[in-house]
Amino acid sequence: MKLKRILGIDIGGSGVKGGIVDTKKGILITERYRIPTPQPATPEAVAEVVGKIAKHFKWEGPIGAGFPGVIQQGIARTAANVDNSWIDKDLNKLFSNATGCNTHVVNDADAAGMAEVKFGAGNGKKGTLLLVTVGTGLGTVIFSNGKLVPNLEMGHILLHGADAELYATDAARKKHNMDWDTWAKRFNEYLLRMEELVWPDHIIIGGGASKKGDKFFHHFTTKAKVVPAKLMNEAGIVGAAMVSKYYTKLESGK
Ligand code: BGC
Repeated sequence: MKLKRILGIDIGGSGVKGGIVDTKKGILITERYRIPTPQPATPEAVAEVVGKIAKHFKWEGPIGAGFPGVIQQGIARTAANVDNSWIDKDLNKLFSNATGCNTHVVNDADAAGMAEVKFGAGNGKKGTLLLVTVGTGLGTVIFSNGKLVPNLEMGHILLHGADAELYATDAARKKHNMDWDTWAKRFNEYLLRMEELVWPDHIIIGGGASKKGDKFFHHFTTKAKVVPAKLMNEAGIVGAAMVSKYYTKLESGK
């Protein structure tokens, strides 16, 4: 089976994005195709969109998808920014049925982290690496000497007695009309708290907001150097494809 090209899909709170990935080079070889996330973002409605993305690319091979919640062996366990009816659904099955292609689903931040460590700003980094994706939610990933601990969910630690995600994510910035400086100071508080908890050697900021890095990186005061993700908001698509390649190989016994 040829696994050089895989369709990667990133399911987000505001958009579902897909592209065909060259898994050897870690790049998209097509334009990104985006459909707004249906509201309410129920499993059936999102599965239909995922099916449309596969159809758009006339895709018949394996698919990898990143989902914004905890995923254990393809089963969703949380759904912070999508509909609660996702919980305990078998997403590998749901999306495989919707696309007619063998689909593997993982946590979206884990997917982005895999891509960033192999092909981006995390490449070759030794020690503990923390990657935070800033978008609708706060996704967190830790690699220890290149090894991932999946489903970390540290975007939900408490800050000022409430879920950090409500205080420091990009959705909070938009919701409360914060200017970049105000938001960046809040996000810095989050990073400082994370530093106290996990002592990363390197910090990478990914997700949609990473494109605007020049507006806020100077506010960060952590001991570890903070750098923007290199793959920016394509990391989720590339990483989902990489994970699909891994599982497809495993299943075929090669
Ligand atoms: C979810 C995580 C997800 C992150 C980024 C959080 O609300 O709990 O699972 O990785 O958002 O989408």
